[in-house]
Amino acid sequence: MTHMRTNLLVRAEDGATPLQRAQHTLPDIEWASIAETIDAINVLKKQRNAIVLAHNYMTPDIYHGVADIVGDSLGLAREAARTDAEVIVFAGVHFMAETAKITCPDKTVLIPDPKAGCSLAESITGADVRLLRERHPGVPIVAYVNTSAEVKAEVDICCTSGNAVEVVRSLGVDEVIFLPDQYLARWVASQLPEVKVILWEGACMVHERFTGAELRSYRAQTPGVQILAHPECPPDVLAEADYVGSTAGMVGFVKHVPAGGRVVMVTECSMADNVAMEAPGVEFVRPCNLCPHMKRITLDKILHSLQTMTTEVHVDPDIAERARRSVDRMLAIGGGPTAGGTR
Ligand code: 13P
Ligand code: SF4
Repeated sequence: MTHMRTNLLVRAEDGATPLQRAQHTLPDIEWASIAETIDAINVLKKQRNAIVLAHNYMTPDIYHGVADIVGDSLGLAREAARTDAEVIVFAGVHFMAETAKITCPDKTVLIPDPKAGCSLAESITGADVRLLRERHPGVPIVAYVNTSAEVKAEVDICCTSGNAVEVVRSLGVDEVIFLPDQYLARWVASQLPEVKVILWEGACMVHERFTGAELRSYRAQTPGVQILAHPECPPDVLAEADYVGSTAGMVGFVKHVPAGGRVVMVTECSMADNVAMEAPGVEFVRPCNLCPHMKRITLDKILHSLQTMTTEVHVDPDIAERARRSVDRMLAIGGGPTAGGTR
């Protein structure tokens, strides 16, 4: 689910690191500046007893250059709960950093840009959840982790795209409220036809833009291509996919694609860039939609964050305690894809 980094970069068989192999694609002056920033970040991490947790949507300089652990939301939530580091720099969006703070209230959690939000997380509030509960008394509420701490505090259990089906199945009920992503909710309903899923009509601005017609055209243009799609995509997109799963699930899938294989990752742009650097034998067809929130996190902002110990993520202790129950229930269930491992 996660990749653990013990040093700056992972070396391939040719002795080169993914970033070194990409070096020739950059002007020397740009490479020199990136290398200098990476070194400065790695020195500061040691001094501060800090680690960088990076989501799979971070750009390659972050993903391959300074991340100690990379992964999907589920893997990063697990690693945050496990780490001995005193400081976590979260290279991802705000709800992810908040989840890390909820699971480890005694640690300092920093986000390099506090404006890195999420359109999906912003589509629902704690008051909305209270209204849903009033309208559907006794029906358990499952919240995707792409929600604020306030929303997590109001629900019964959290899930991620990596374990949503397992989480809903674990409840053993015939009716559930699933929020806020309507497409993930529809995906769960398609996998568990025995459960009635009441959904909230939120959507991710990145994934809802893909269409089934687009995927059919990739298939027509690229014979033999395997299509991997994130479950935040609409149903007509998922119907065209060979594999549906979280970002870590997609990384795991690519590991088994033989050299010469072709894949499309129907998700945020940086995913394919990161994975392609580690799978040079696989051809990536790159349709991509950028997440403007994720792209707020840059190498320079990570350096600034460690230099100034900003911006610290705080969660109201009462909300954090109630939200922790929902996150801990999810973590206790386990499940999720098995991509990655320790480096
Ligand atoms: P994953 O949990 O699959 O990494 O997805 C998080 C996310 O924000 C997808 O848009
Ligand atoms: Fe939110 Fe979508 Fe961006 Fe993920 S990709 S952080 S769900 S807006």
